[in-house]
Amino acid sequence: MPSGLWYGADYNPEQWPERVWAEDVALMREAGVNLVTVNVFGWASIEPAAGEYDFARLDRVLDLLHDGGIAVDLATATAAPPPWFSLAHPEVLPVDAAGLRLSYGSRQAFCASSPVYRSAAVGLATTLANRYAGHPALAMWHVHNEYGCHAPQCFCDVSTVDFRDWLRRRYADLDALNAAWGTDFWSQRCTDWEQVQPPRRTVTFANPGQVLDWRRFCSDAQLACFVAERDVLERLSPGVPVTTNLMAGNVYDLDYWAWSAELTGGDRWVSNDHYLIGDDPREPGAQVAFAADLSRGIARGTPWLLMEHSTSAVNWQPRNYAKPPGQLRRDSLSHVARGSEGALFFQWRASRAGAEKWHSAMLPHAGTDSAVWRSVVALGADLRSLADVRGSRVVADVAVLLDYPSVWAQEAPAQPSADLVAYPEVLRWHAALWRAGVTADVVHPCADLSPYRLVVAPSLYLVSDSAADHLASFVDRGGALVVGPYSGLVDPADRVRPAPLPGAFASLLGIRVEEHLPMRPGETVRLSDGSVGSVWSEALAAPDAVVERTYPDGSPAVTRRGSAWYVSTRLDDPSLEALLARVAGGSPYPPGVDGVWRVHPDGRSYLFLFNHGRHDAEVAIAGRDLLTGARWPSRTTVPAGGVVVLDVVARA
Ligand code: GAL
Repeated sequence: MPSGLWYGADYNPEQWPERVWAEDVALMREAGVNLVTVNVFGWASIEPAAGEYDFARLDRVLDLLHDGGIAVDLATATAAPPPWFSLAHPEVLPVDAAGLRLSYGSRQAFCASSPVYRSAAVGLATTLANRYAGHPALAMWHVHNEYGCHAPQCFCDVSTVDFRDWLRRRYADLDALNAAWGTDFWSQRCTDWEQVQPPRRTVTFANPGQVLDWRRFCSDAQLACFVAERDVLERLSPGVPVTTNLMAGNVYDLDYWAWSAELTGGDRWVSNDHYLIGDDPREPGAQVAFAADLSRGIARGTPWLLMEHSTSAVNWQPRNYAKPPGQLRRDSLSHVARGSEGALFFQWRASRAGAEKWHSAMLPHAGTDSAVWRSVVALGADLRSLADVRGSRVVADVAVLLDYPSVWAQEAPAQPSADLVAYPEVLRWHAALWRAGVTADVVHPCADLSPYRLVVAPSLYLVSDSAADHLASFVDRGGALVVGPYSGLVDPADRVRPAPLPGAFASLLGIRVEEHLPMRPGETVRLSDGSVGSVWSEALAAPDAVVERTYPDGSPAVTRRGSAWYVSTRLDDPSLEALLARVAGGSPYPPGVDGVWRVHPDGRSYLFLFNHGRHDAEVAIAGRDLLTGARWPSRTTVPAGGVVVLDVVARA
């Protein structure tokens, strides 16, 4: 295990003739690579036919890497069943909502509830653990790859039976299920468990309670696959860390708070993959910050690992933009600033064939005489100079709340407005804080809120009684809370709470929502302070709150009861940023600069400063830059587009 930060990539040597491997290891050493993920899509290579194993090549790869001083994150290869497996077990192939069974031919073509798939996956993990548990190159087990990436839901008959079992555990009896789903509506009452099925394609809106439970179930089914493999690895290979790479940030099909419980503690690691979305309205820095802050939340504040990102363009978006100079460095070091213990990429060497041949890599098609390669070598040096950061924790006193079932419930069709979408709102509020120079943790509404002075809940349409009580006691203890529109309205079964609305938050916020007033496309509303809303408004009364901003007709738009704020419209980005900056207090950094602290228990503190702007910026703080060795006696200059990591001794 390296003592500093990890640096590396997915390494897929099975795609290359062996004569290339020695050059790979030599170049990895030149770049400072110390950890690679191997065997991630290697199932067909190590088991070319049912029960026939061929480990000769993988043995040689692990030995070669070990001789080169490079540790291995060994994957269980279960994310891509080979064609022979799918042909032998066609019932494992996933079925879509319309009943169409999908073919093999890409990857992840399996049903997570299938006992045949699960037993094959556990079998493969067992075989690998028996063979490699004692290999000196082994630093970490990498279960599967991005659960739920391509087929997060399967509507086959096996899943249906599994779903019914899951519902029996949740509701015990059919009456409780009928009550939760409100099946008296549209004559949907089930009188036998055999009538209960997934929300398959039907003629119009499916039952929203059923859809919500289905999404919960699908997340749990994927999680059960992970737990089954993890348990085998922990039993046969005790003491070796185990992880699986999540997609926190861009993807929200799985309830990562449930996954958090299975990925933390002991030798378990949270790891995450993050890719910039070229057409995302947020700045790249904000996109990275959200993914990293959420990964840290899933890791419960402990260090985590950036398992994949890209050196430059990806190949799966409509237009795949190359990273401009400096972006690779800022992205990687931002993840490190926000708690990652290193930076890994997809992938080491660009593939010559296959679906990802136009995806960037550490070693690009252009070879070593390229800007990407030079940036990769430079980043390796940067990470070596940050070795002391390892093990320190990120400091944040503001939190953004995210609840996956709430997001899913709001996504069900037949809502008041298709334009108010929960997950993008969470991203937007987090980005507003990021622009205001605030480091925020992203956490579950029931997380320990005691470290925070400010909690924002951009979108909590669905909220449990216990979460609502938890937020109320946070406010009672003096914490500031800002709640976004269309929150507090339904219970965990997606049933509308009794009047007064907004249900769970009516008394905490001192308001009454009488009616939702969605706005037309392109329509905007100017509030009394000049801030601008669109998409959504409400007929709101504030019997027990101060009216901070009004709509043009004088009715309340933004309210505050003590330190609990409510925002009843979708503020545009500048207005949202101004509001959150006011509640959070001013930024200690100049515009365009974000700063993140990582602190060791013994007080050693590091301030990561990123200048996302076009001009050099000055920050009033002293320290030594770990990246360059420069000492800044009172003010630190952060070059345009650059990064400074100050060793500050004692945190200001
Ligand atoms: C990830 C995946 C990798 C690779 C990468 C490309 O989702 O885990 O195997 O496909 O995307 O960006």
